[in-house]
Amino acid sequence: VYKGNGVKGLSETGINILPDQYIQPFEERLINFHVNDRTEESIPVIDMSNSDEKSVSKAVCDAAEEWGFFQVINHGVSMEVIENMKAATHRFFSLPVEEKRKLSREKSLSTNVRYGTSFSPHAEKALEWKDYLSLLYVSEAEASQLWPDACRHATLEYMNESKPLVKKLLQFLGENLNVKELDKTKESLFMGSTRINLNYYPTCPNPDLTVGVGRHSDVSTLTILLQDQIGGLHVRSLTTGTDRWVNVPPISGSLVINIGDAMQIMSNGRYKSVEHRVLANGTNNRISVPIFVNPKPESLIGPLLEVIANGEKPVYRDVLYTDYVKHFFRKGHDRKKTIDFAN
Ligand code: SIN
Ligand code: FE2
Repeated sequence: VYKGNGVKGLSETGINILPDQYIQPFEERLINFHVNDRTEESIPVIDMSNSDEKSVSKAVCDAAEEWGFFQVINHGVSMEVIENMKAATHRFFSLPVEEKRKLSREKSLSTNVRYGTSFSPHAEKALEWKDYLSLLYVSEAEASQLWPDACRHATLEYMNESKPLVKKLLQFLGENLNVKELDKTKESLFMGSTRINLNYYPTCPNPDLTVGVGRHSDVSTLTILLQDQIGGLHVRSLTTGTDRWVNVPPISGSLVINIGDAMQIMSNGRYKSVEHRVLANGTNNRISVPIFVNPKPESLIGPLLEVIANGEKPVYRDVLYTDYVKHFFRKGHDRKKTIDFAN
């Protein structure tokens, strides 16, 4: 009865026992990890509107090195555009099954548009309690043909409005690595391709037995994440030892930024691509919308010349970005970061 309607459809049948495929191995359940609660330490919150640009830049670069994650406020993306993006996400997932199924792996007219469920059902030992719509941005023209009406306009607007923020962050992170300017070559290396995902995490009957998303790091240069007010995102702490995770508390209007593997590689390990995961929730549906800012697929990525010019030893091999990504998606979230294979 729920076939083709994802985990949301499953959740809406009113089941009160988690189906077996979603039961995660004991060691992957969040209950086993120490998570600092809301009152304790979390990732830095950076006010992008601070007129002292040097101090903003330093805060961004320090956070990229020490946490790999931070939140930004007063970032220039309007509240209206953010609210529209959230509403569009709900609108898409509320579509009738038949509409969403047209965008499934089997039916979608383009691999650039895909509605799916879990992370990579073929590689995964256990499924994750999540549905998604993944949109690879190619052009406005393609989007207007292929992206669903339910979310196209708001999504394009949100992507456009976040672009100056992306450039600003890359400028700060680049300058700190001796990259003097974000010219065309660097733009294609840092932000030559963009994907946006609309994630839906339905209410789960046994949240302790599964996960919304298992631990992973992103393969991006940078990820800009919009989360709603429900919460559940946890980030591995680099400062407090292994297997300590901190909660990323939702802040109204904020955006969560994280460093991805491509940036860790290009910075020769200075900026950290940090593991994160999302709890399943027993009482609420949650949405999130990550924008993955990626290198152009055919870019050769490796430690930047600007970084190794000072005699620093490159700690990663050069790799075609597309090969790196293929390597990542062949496997599931199996407790290893892709970047561990890149050395
Ligand atoms: C992800 O990192 O895959 C999703 C993060 C989130 O939903 O908060
Ligand atoms: Fe992620």
